[in-house]
Amino acid sequence: MTTKERVHPAVVGRTVSIVGIGSYLPERILTNADLEKMVNTTDEWIITRTGIKERHIAAPDQASSDLGAEAARRALADAGISPEAVDMIVLGTITPDMGFPNTACFVQAKIGAKNAFCFDIEAACSGFLYGLEIGRQFISTGSMETVLVIAAEKISSILDWEDRNTCVLFGDAAGAVVLQARGAAHGVMASTLGSDGTLAELLMLPGGGSRSPTTEETVRNRLHYMKMAGREVFKHAVTNMTRAAKDALQRSGLGIEDIRWIIPHQANLRIIEAIGERLGVTKEKLVINLERCGNTSAATIVVALDELAREGKLQKHDKILMVAFGGGFTWGASVVEWDK
Ligand code: UT7
Repeated sequence: MTTKERVHPAVVGRTVSIVGIGSYLPERILTNADLEKMVNTTDEWIITRTGIKERHIAAPDQASSDLGAEAARRALADAGISPEAVDMIVLGTITPDMGFPNTACFVQAKIGAKNAFCFDIEAACSGFLYGLEIGRQFISTGSMETVLVIAAEKISSILDWEDRNTCVLFGDAAGAVVLQARGAAHGVMASTLGSDGTLAELLMLPGGGSRSPTTEETVRNRLHYMKMAGREVFKHAVTNMTRAAKDALQRSGLGIEDIRWIIPHQANLRIIEAIGERLGVTKEKLVINLERCGNTSAATIVVALDELAREGKLQKHDKILMVAFGGGFTWGASVVEWDK
């Protein structure tokens, strides 16, 4: 059966396409050599264990909404759509500007999307794929016409810069897509999402919430910083992303040979290679930018997708498989047909 003949079983209602995309990386670059001066680490350790060479770090006066607003402006310009046309903004982040209001509301105010309703989703590194599927559902049912899905992270604000286990891994970034219904094209073909809250303690930011409101003691104990059991998370990341990718593929009715690009969450080159191996794909199908960006949590996939588009590597009808894993645990995978 050819790709064209396959019936897509997962889509009910209108098909939903990415009609605009944009991303933003803060100007400042922090290299592994810089980190060698900050914690007991080496460029060699970071490259061989993770594949990361440098990452972008937001300025002190930039919050996640500033990064997200810039990405959103670029996505709207790419789509040729005015901010007033946006019906809904869904924003994935684990680094909101503040406890409340939600960061999507701050982006709304910055870009002038005055007709949108706005909310955040907290699904850690899976935030973009969760947002993509939520946006798809609203448009698919006919409830909304134009949805802005944003992932915006200032991870540098929750890193313990004295903890070499985490501070060398992450960076700041934002990405955004505009979704609309577009007639006959397949667009977002299938998604699978999952969570496992029983393993929450392996990756979390324990302080500052209702469980441990901020006190001098929580700050002294550095509970306002991210904690990660890296080795454990690694194993779960490989297993769950491989399973999610296969599940989304099956739901899309496509085979792995139909996929032009795979964009895995950018946490560790060894994780990406392990997933590639388990899916049986050659390295050139894997989109990798973590050597320049590090792990930017919810933003990794959409930033990589935008770079791919801007480099002219996406052809209309290319099938793209995106797959994510993060704190929660949460995971997800989506198959998208590019139709810009
Ligand atoms: O985005 C959410 C999902 N996150 C992930 O998927 C991250 C998953 N985990 C990983 O990517 C890897 O587990 C890490 C990169 C975090 C760590 O790599 P690893 O190969 O699992 O190293 P390890 O944690 O087993 O540590 C090996 C050694 C330890 O020393 P000992 O105990 O063997 O003496 C660490 O203390 O490496 C040491 N180490 C470092 N050494 C130099 C840990 N961090 C550093 C560092 N520089 N920055």
